[in-house]
Amino acid sequence: MEEDEIEQNETEENEEVEKLSSDFEYKDIKDLPGVGSTIASKIRNAGYQDIIALATANPMALVEACGIGEPTARKIVAEAREASKMNFMSGLEFEDKRRTVQRISTGSETLNILLGGGIETQSITECYGEYGSGKSQIAFQLAVDVQLPLDKGGLEGHAIWIDTEGTFRPARIEQLAAVKGLDPKQALQNIKIGRAYSSDHQVLLVDKIPELVNSDPKIRLIVVDSMMALFRAEYIGRGTLADRQQKVNVVLHTLQRLADRFNIAVYITNQVMSRPDVMFGDPTAAVGGHIIGHVATYRIYLRKGRKGSRVAKLVDSPSLPEGEASFEITSNGIADVDEEKKK
Ligand code: GTP
Ligand code: MG
Repeated sequence: MEEDEIEQNETEENEEVEKLSSDFEYKDIKDLPGVGSTIASKIRNAGYQDIIALATANPMALVEACGIGEPTARKIVAEAREASKMNFMSGLEFEDKRRTVQRISTGSETLNILLGGGIETQSITECYGEYGSGKSQIAFQLAVDVQLPLDKGGLEGHAIWIDTEGTFRPARIEQLAAVKGLDPKQALQNIKIGRAYSSDHQVLLVDKIPELVNSDPKIRLIVVDSMMALFRAEYIGRGTLADRQQKVNVVLHTLQRLADRFNIAVYITNQVMSRPDVMFGDPTAAVGGHIIGHVATYRIYLRKGRKGSRVAKLVDSPSLPEGEASFEITSNGIADVDEEKKK
């Protein structure tokens, strides 16, 4: 392809992305016509946490729970449906939307190939594995690589990072940025970090993301490292698993909506324990595994391989063949396995 042809394609791509974002105004329940903050909080107390939940509510349940008249309840549910655009799109429209999907390089060519070219926008990619398997290191690499030009595997974009374990390391970002020829301080400036101290705090931070994205349209990557740590710590043995699932689901659906509407890639991590007692099948039990599993489009299982290498396995992908890829974590970042060293 000629160079100006490439440019032309990129401009078209960017325009499509803009079109995608501009028709979407992220709404809160209280922003719906006829709903003030008083009714909004009654609706929330009745268990409808967001517009999607409200869109599927039975108006009569709202009448009872919120003390409003039936016509008002019907109007609110209708508005919620409109706002959440619960409409079908044609196969062609769907195809058009898929065409705007872009990818961010993981730093390893082998791993990129396994993932069909890198991690995808409009999708949630879940990376699970035991401690030290490289989940966070991949996140650092993505947060730097997203800032690179398109021909270098990036999206010239910015990132949001939700840190639930206090493991975000500015120095690592600076180091990886320098390797890629980026200004290290600028690279750090382009990442917005939210440190979550409790699962409720994590939910609030995720709720803030639409605002951040509206004020910085360059945001193309959201990292949640880790997705389950706080939920796991707080809900352990409390017998409130349903409550936990509901909250985790709200977070995941918010992330998926952001990914769809703003053409963003979402990368979440999930620590799992090795279970040597399990002889057959998957020897790890993903914490909250099946909850995330149904929402994440791509699931990567990481394990430690030979001679310090790491092995990534693609699990349950909708369109890609299952397979494995080896890579290494080096001081320069995620890289392909050095074949020389293996000999
Ligand atoms: P948890 O958060 O504990 O669940 O683990 P994780 O999967 O997030 O692990 P992480 O991505 O933090 O990987 C840590 C591993 O990366 C370390 O054990 C090192 O092997 C490797 N690593 C991190 N930094 C460097 C580095 O600068 N050079 C090299 N060679 N390896 C590094
Ligand atoms: Mg980690």
